[in-house]
Amino acid sequence: MGKKIFSGVQPTGNLHLGNYLGAIKNFVELNNDKHNHCIFCVVDLHAITTKQDPKELRNNIRETLASFLASGINPKRSIIFNQSRVSAHSEAAWILSCTARTGWLSRMTQFKEKAGKDKEKASVGLYSYPVLMAADILLYDSTHVPVGDDQKQHLELCRDIAQRFNSDFEVEDFFKVPEPIIQKEFSRIMSLKDGTKKMSKSELSDLSRINLTDDADQIINKIKKAKTDSFPMPSSKEELKDRPEAKNLMGIYSNLINSTLEKTIIDFSGKNFSEFKNSLSQVLVEKIVPISEEIKKLLTEKNYLDKILQDGHEKANEIASEKVKKIHEIVGF
Ligand code: TYM
Repeated sequence: MGKKIFSGVQPTGNLHLGNYLGAIKNFVELNNDKHNHCIFCVVDLHAITTKQDPKELRNNIRETLASFLASGINPKRSIIFNQSRVSAHSEAAWILSCTARTGWLSRMTQFKEKAGKDKEKASVGLYSYPVLMAADILLYDSTHVPVGDDQKQHLELCRDIAQRFNSDFEVEDFFKVPEPIIQKEFSRIMSLKDGTKKMSKSELSDLSRINLTDDADQIINKIKKAKTDSFPMPSSKEELKDRPEAKNLMGIYSNLINSTLEKTIIDFSGKNFSEFKNSLSQVLVEKIVPISEEIKKLLTEKNYLDKILQDGHEKANEIASEKVKKIHEIVGF
């Protein structure tokens, strides 16, 4: 039997190489397997947990969809929709927030990172955001959730919520307990400026990330300027231990060519770093520029994009509203 796949991406600006290698590349592989049922969600409700400009948000929803399609997700073989159009997500999130314990949420490291020093100023939504994420997943009886490493803890919380709800209401197996799909290696792509920090949309410097909309010159320039160290290329994995930037760049290269870090180390051992950077730029340009050009083309076809979201939302709504009806019965509404 195929897997029931669900995953989401926030429409908070350009998607970057971290989103692509950590998540979207896996979406495409899972979507290519005809046995799987795939649902990919543009999570706009999650996006507004931090301040968004309404006009930009509307564009970013389309751009996120365009990035999915340009990366190779097939809209005929998956349901793609934006979260806010299926009201079941907000409803289920409320009900599940009565199952989730505050103690569980207060352990979430992403909230601590995103809220920064002044936690009191963070929105309530940012705090309870993993509960909405659990609703997203559980509404569709998802069996597998492909995500980057940074979402692992949220997935564990989702599993806890599902199990707790099933046992509190004595409805064994009502919510399916989903499995994360997280790559073993390179599941956390780091900033090009600091190998100890995650590559992220929110980092101020655009030089810290490769965007899926970058052109060849931008990519080459960013790799040229990417932080490295003064050591030669490593000849073993051990030599990469305290070299986060080198390790990250070599991981990106290995992931892009579907190879392993070990093989990349062998291929470049004894060479100088600038030679490696040239090869990395070349591979990046080969993979990312076609995606970037396709995104730009798709963004001129607004009606086509809106039609996909419309179709997707109808299909998603059918499944999710049925599940919410059952949730209502179970809790006694
Ligand atoms: P978001 O929008 O921050 O990121 C989307 C996906 O990209 C992955 N990712 C990374 N992977 C590797 N290295 C990085 N530097 C990197 N940055 C981002 C994320 O792990 C994610 O898989 N809460 C989620 C969205 C969400 C969701 C869901 C996911 C909402 N509901 C239900 C799965 C299932 C988020 O904010 O992802």
